[in-house]
Amino acid sequence: MKLIIINGPNLNLLGKREPEVYGNKTFEDYFADLQFRFKDVQLEYFQSNIEGELIGKIQEVGFSYDGIVLNAAAYTHTSVGIGDAIKAVTTPVVEVHISNTHKREEFRHVSYISPVAKGVILGFGLQSYDLAIQSFLK
Ligand code: DQA
Repeated sequence: MKLIIINGPNLNLLGKREPEVYGNKTFEDYFADLQFRFKDVQLEYFQSNIEGELIGKIQEVGFSYDGIVLNAAAYTHTSVGIGDAIKAVTTPVVEVHISNTHKREEFRHVSYISPVAKGVILGFGLQSYDLAIQSFLK
């Protein structure tokens, strides 16, 4: 089972960024926990603040990996290009968000990812990623 977590803009600042919304842990520390907990899964991690790099990574892995766990962050609410990339590839994508975007500002209620995702998990803090990984396991 080969999965990749793809994180979008500003998620490199987890631990420092709005801790009341996103928590105190860095993604690197959390990713090390995930690798420990999901030993049977080949787990990779990619983060970019650049929309085209996220699209490039989806294209690169999207015909060979078993799953993509995608937190497109702010691009969730704006990016037709990321939505189209997900439609173009064969690897299923699970959309995740740390916060419950539906409890927040109205512009966060729109997602260009949800209509093309296998499923959506949001609002469970970093545990949203755990749940997304579990969804790919039989
Ligand atoms: C987020 C929610 C987005 O609205 C926001 O732009 C983010 C993070 C989340 O994980 O809760 O950067 O995707």
